[in-house]
Amino acid sequence: AKHVVVDWDVTYVYMMRDGINYRQSIGINGQSPIPPVYATRGDTLILNVHNLLNVTTTIHAHGLFMRGMSYMDGPAMTNQCGIPPGELFTYEYHLEQAGTFWIHGHDHDHSADGLRTALVIYDKEPPYKYDAEHLFTFEDWFVGQFTERAELVSSPTMPYPPPHTVGFGLINGYNGNTTKPIKFEPKKTYRIRLINMSSTYWYYFQIPGHKLRVIEVDGILSDEHIVDGVQLAPAMRYSVLVTAHKSDELNYYYKVKMYADFIPTSLGENPRFYSGLVEYKQDSPVKELPDVDDNKLTWVEDIKMTALDKQPPLPVDRSLYLWLGNNLLSTGQRLDHINNITYYAPLVPSLFTAMTTGDLAKNPEVYNNRTHPVVLKHNEVVELEVHNPNRFHHPMHLHGHAFQVTEYGPSLDGFTSGNTFSPLVQSLVAPIQRDVIEIPSFSYVKIRFRADNPGVWLYHCHVNVHGSPESLRMLMTFVEAPDVLQKTQTLPKKLIRHCGMSGIKASGNAAGN
Ligand code: C2O
Ligand code: CU
Repeated sequence: AKHVVVDWDVTYVYMMRDGINYRQSIGINGQSPIPPVYATRGDTLILNVHNLLNVTTTIHAHGLFMRGMSYMDGPAMTNQCGIPPGELFTYEYHLEQAGTFWIHGHDHDHSADGLRTALVIYDKEPPYKYDAEHLFTFEDWFVGQFTERAELVSSPTMPYPPPHTVGFGLINGYNGNTTKPIKFEPKKTYRIRLINMSSTYWYYFQIPGHKLRVIEVDGILSDEHIVDGVQLAPAMRYSVLVTAHKSDELNYYYKVKMYADFIPTSLGENPRFYSGLVEYKQDSPVKELPDVDDNKLTWVEDIKMTALDKQPPLPVDRSLYLWLGNNLLSTGQRLDHINNITYYAPLVPSLFTAMTTGDLAKNPEVYNNRTHPVVLKHNEVVELEVHNPNRFHHPMHLHGHAFQVTEYGPSLDGFTSGNTFSPLVQSLVAPIQRDVIEIPSFSYVKIRFRADNPGVWLYHCHVNVHGSPESLRMLMTFVEAPDVLQKTQTLPKKLIRHCGMSGIKASGNAAGN
């Protein structure tokens, strides 16, 4: 095990990523895109973050459980105060997991403005054998800053579709049509890692003429599942194995589709299509094959997958019913909610409250109600039944855990909306586990996890304009085993000091009690 040290000066960068527009974005050390971070399970990843922006910022390693160190998770005003401008904070991650993750900003939606990159954690002895790897990161890229889009989306006078909300696709950092060929050698097997780092768009990936065998879902290994293509909602990751053909007489294309359900296809800008070369031999002709999507991995298909660890469905101790929605306020403004509660960031990070209020920490009343706090008992198994009776899909992400996906079905209102598929229940021995699940419109999903990770964890939509405290506010807070948390974790002094300094520009539009 080694120490992997990464120094990040978080800086504004003015540059062109999509080959079309120059714009201000957020990068590191004066560059954007940010290079991927590679490490091996067992390593310690030391990330020195120096905030050179004029607002607070934080960093989140998406998919890492942060066991025993909830204060390293990153979300501003949940786990820490934003790092003040000019200040340095060191994140220290003990990498107990292997798989495909990503690192992104978790304050002021800096992720959507470019503060995001891949985190690949290798396994010294992976259970699947392959000869080499390829990595694909997918991003969406807009002309304007995120704050401009966020304001538009909730404004009473939002034109439809909102201007500046139509994005371009970036593959491995740049315009999706300018990617370098990926190389295949005959008969070799490749692991292809796919990460959707988009703020808004869905992606679909396929290599016509080749089958994909899914082996990893959001950092958790699965049994092999054969498909033609893989769909990724924002924040999702997959690894697939692909075995190359026996001969190198032909080259192929991989195909990528980028799309969003809120943009009318009539605009001609949605979906967008990208492709790149799968090169067996430089001079071989390219075999053009029709796109295939008859056997794709989607939210319907992945319930049929099984986890490699064969963990059976957890026995439920407690069920929570959650309902996702959007309210029209009397001001004409629109805001999202979960069970009719719209999230507002607290004045003190929820984690600090959980660690400093003794026995009271078990009482949800000590957390600002507008953070939608739910206190969980140590080791209880929680089932979330999450309903989405609306027309937008929501990729919901839970921090600190991977959860089992045990059931999909039509949401009650869905029956009247034409969505009449019958529920799909995970009847197999080992449901897949993941950290983001798409809850399609007019549907519900059931997920389960064990509250075995004392800490404070956000649950939110990963479409940035829906699920951030700077936009439509579809978030809630799980306070997990605060009694155990108080006995086993200590807040770094620096984090406490940063709270006194970040009043320069508070994170997340904090609302008082
Ligand atoms: Cu990818 Cu709340 O995070
Ligand atoms: Cu959403």
